[in-house]
Parts: sequence; structure tokens; C-alpha cells
Amino acid sequence: MNIPYINLNLQWKKEKRDLLKIIDKVLSAGEYVNTYALEIQKFEKKIAKICGTKYAVALNSGTDALTLGLYLLGVRKGDEVITPPNSFISSTSVITHIGAKPVFVDVLDDQNLDPDLIEKAITKKTKAIMPVHLTGRVCKMKKIISLSRQYNIPIIEDAAQSIGSKYYGKPSGSFGKVACFSTHPLKNLNAVGDGGFLTTNDQGIFKKAKIFSNHGLVNRNKVNNFGFLSRMDVLQAAILNYRLKNLNKIINTRRKNAKFYIENLDKKKYFFLGEKKYEFNTYHTFVIQTKKRNKLIKYLNSNGIGSAIHYPIPIHLQPAAKYLGYKKGDFPNAEKQSKRIITIPINQNLNKREIHKIVRTLNEF
Ligand SMILES: Cc1ncc(COP(=O)(O)O)c(C=O)c1O
Repeated sequence: MNIPYINLNLQWKKEKRDLLKIIDKVLSAGEYVNTYALEIQKFEKKIAKICGTKYAVALNSGTDALTLGLYLLGVRKGDEVITPPNSFISSTSVITHIGAKPVFVDVLDDQNLDPDLIEKAITKKTKAIMPVHLTGRVCKMKKIISLSRQYNIPIIEDAAQSIGSKYYGKPSGSFGKVACFSTHPLKNLNAVGDGGFLTTNDQGIFKKAKIFSNHGLVNRNKVNNFGFLSRMDVLQAAILNYRLKNLNKIINTRRKNAKFYIENLDKKKYFFLGEKKYEFNTYHTFVIQTKKRNKLIKYLNSNGIGSAIHYPIPIHLQPAAKYLGYKKGDFPNAEKQSKRIITIPINQNLNKREIHKIVRTLNEF
């Protein structure tokens, strides 16, 4: 592939000298796992600042952040959680692992939860609303927040794809009682393995998240409640602290790439959205839609351009979700999008020639 969808090798090449020093420093210090290590605390402090929250807790994945978040909101067996059917699978699987029931609500053109459809899905059992800020665009939160207040149901943001994104100037991660992020290698802020964190303004949730992510240990030997193993390694935190210095640059480059796409891609051939005045999107992905999606993937491939589909099978139609009783046609927007969406390369390592080639190839198709 001449232009891969993502290029982690290039990132390693660019950062190798600095990262080797960091790896040496952490491994020489011999403190690999400690939820109060300096690198972890530094990371949590920086993240809370970016997300505009009082607290952040470094964890070992976005998935575990969601599990812990739901658990600390008190979601238990038999409860219901409202979520979209077109996310990464773990937005839903965490709900089922806790014994709760995912209740899906369809999405808008922007692939995010349709706030006008949420109220109908609320029942006495609804214990949380989980909007997913897909592609790096924050959901239309105004109405979701007002429903959350009206029905006294907490919001847990799945902000895995949206570090640094804003809605009316307010950062992703600051809207919910809890917000959950991923630092998976493909994310804008990426670790060299699994990683994630949660943010909150609630001191009780913060304290519990620190303890529950570390087996429930309140000190070296004592456990008041059985916990999980969801803490972040010191090495990942040290690498993320290094990469955080570049986050703004990465976001700006992705935004510049997106602007170029928005201004130059053929709007008669492809459906895609620009950026609304109140949005600040960080473009974890850049998704376009076409009825000829599958042919387009082949065409791009034959021109050496990588692409991806996020996600080809809506979650309610996954075999694992069969027991929930949903059927084809239940969520028309999510289903239609799943057949038409294609994610084109947008990462910060693309050069001008590559971006131009992508646009040229797409417009020639
Ligand atoms: C929307 C969404 N939710 C949850 C996750 C899970 O994060 P992780 O892979 O770090 O467990 C991801 C990323 O993979 C994601 O994109």
C-alpha cells in the first residue's frame, strides 16, 4: 500500500530516539506498575486539564474505562443503558458484561445519537445514557443533557474517539457524570498497546475508580470491595505524556487534512459533513458515504490507497446481539450508513502529495 490507512511505523521512526530514552528511563527505575507513580499522576493531571474536568484516572483501555464507568454509576443486572447501534463493539459489550441490557437508539446524518429519539427509549429501568462521540465529533449534547436532568439518568460519554474535541467550546469528556477514552494505537493520542482513561468531576467516582481499577485495594493489603485490574502501566503513561506534547499539532494537522477534503472532494459523488460553527472536530476518522462503497474500496486499493469501514455491521445485527430481539430495519439510519460509509486516511503523517492523490483518486472514481 503506497498510502496506508494508518502509518504507525512512520510514527516510530519519527519518535524512536526520544522513545528509546523514555523506555530506558522507566525500565531502569524498575517501577512498572503503580497507580500513584509520578508518570501516572502527571498524565491524569494533564488529561483532566484537556478535558475540563476535576479528575482523570489512567486505565488500561477504553473498554475497561466504560466497564468501570458503568459500574461506578451503579449500573447493575437488569438495568438498561441507552446507546447507539453503530459504535465499536465494546460500547455495547461492556453493558452486557455488567448484566445490563443495551437499548439502541438510531443516529443522525453525523452518525451520532439522535437526541430526539432518546426519550421514547427511556423506561423505569434506564440507568445510564451513553452517547458515543463517533469520528471525533461530539454528539448534540444540549438535548441529551436536558433529558438526563429531566429523568435523573446519568450520562456516560463514550469519548474513545474524541480527545480534544469540543461542542460550544466545551471539551469532550466534560459533559457526562463519567467519560471514557481510549488510547489504543489507532487513536489520535495513542499508546504503544492498550490504554485508556476516564474523566469525572465527581470526587467519589474518582476515588473509587482509582481503587477499583487496582483490585479494590485501599492499601497494600486491604480490600473493602472486590475490584478489577484496569490500571495503566507506568511505561504507557510515560509514552503518553511524551505524546501529549504533540496532541494539539496532531489535531491541527488532522483538521487541516479534513478541511482539504471538505473543500475538494466531489460533493455530487460523496456525502460528508462539514463542521458546524459550534463544533470543534478532531477527526479521529474522516468518513464519506457512497452507494458504491464496496467498489470504491477496491478502486482505492488498486491505486495503493488504504481505507477502512467503521463499522460494517451495526451492533444490533451482530450474532452476539441476537438475544436482544432486534431485527433489520429497526435503526434505518445506522443500517443505511453501515452499507455506505468508508473511512479514508486522515492521519497526521500524510504528506501533501498523498492527500492530493487521495482527493484526485476519489474524484476520478
Ligand atoms: C467508540 C469506541 N468505544 C470504545 C472503544 C474501546 O477502546 P479500547 O480499544 O481502548 O478498549 C473504542 C476504540 O477501540 C472506540 O472507538
